[in-house]
Amino acid sequence: MISIAVFASGSGSNFQAIYDATQSGRLQAQVSLLVCDKPDAKVIERAEKAGVQTFVFSPKDFASKEEYETEIYKQLSQQNVEFIVLAGYMRLIGSVLLEKFKGKIVNIHPSLLPSFPGKDAIGQAVKAGVKVTGVTIHYVDAGMDTGPIIAQQAIEIGKGYTRETIEQRIHQVEHAIYAETLQQLFQQIKKAGNSLIKTF
Ligand code: GRF
Repeated sequence: MISIAVFASGSGSNFQAIYDATQSGRLQAQVSLLVCDKPDAKVIERAEKAGVQTFVFSPKDFASKEEYETEIYKQLSQQNVEFIVLAGYMRLIGSVLLEKFKGKIVNIHPSLLPSFPGKDAIGQAVKAGVKVTGVTIHYVDAGMDTGPIIAQQAIEIGKGYTRETIEQRIHQVEHAIYAETLQQLFQQIKKAGNSLIKTF
């Protein structure tokens, strides 16, 4: 079974959904590590409850991104992690991890990319007054939410929708499609004899 690490900075509802999917067998993968850059994030509690190993760090304790990513890489190697799943990790991935996990890092973003990249995508969509938004799962490259798109699901913003109801709907969709998309991706990787699928 493929060994994955989830990177998260916040509440971790996507971490939970992914972990739960591995437990129910919908996602044939093992969550071997949670990497978190916010020592007080709720996701840490979730990981501990699930018995998932955690690596929690404060970027300010390191001289540079290269330095903390080198430490993260050490931790990933110790857990034999093969694939990185970003789920609300609020940092750009740097050259160390991009190099070591080329084509093996994915992210989920709460908009239909390339619309509304970066912070507060839901707020950006509300402000723009769009009638359709959604969720995107994409490979990670050096840019901000710019990697090749793997899957998307649209969500209509009906009359009377508020930021809160849109957010709820986005989360529902995220929790459903992230595990499903990862399962498909891992099946493809398995079929390819575990060799890396280079898509970009
Ligand atoms: C999600 O909406 C995800 O798309 C974005 O950050 C949010 C994380 O939520 N990248 P949670 O911490 O998984 O609840």
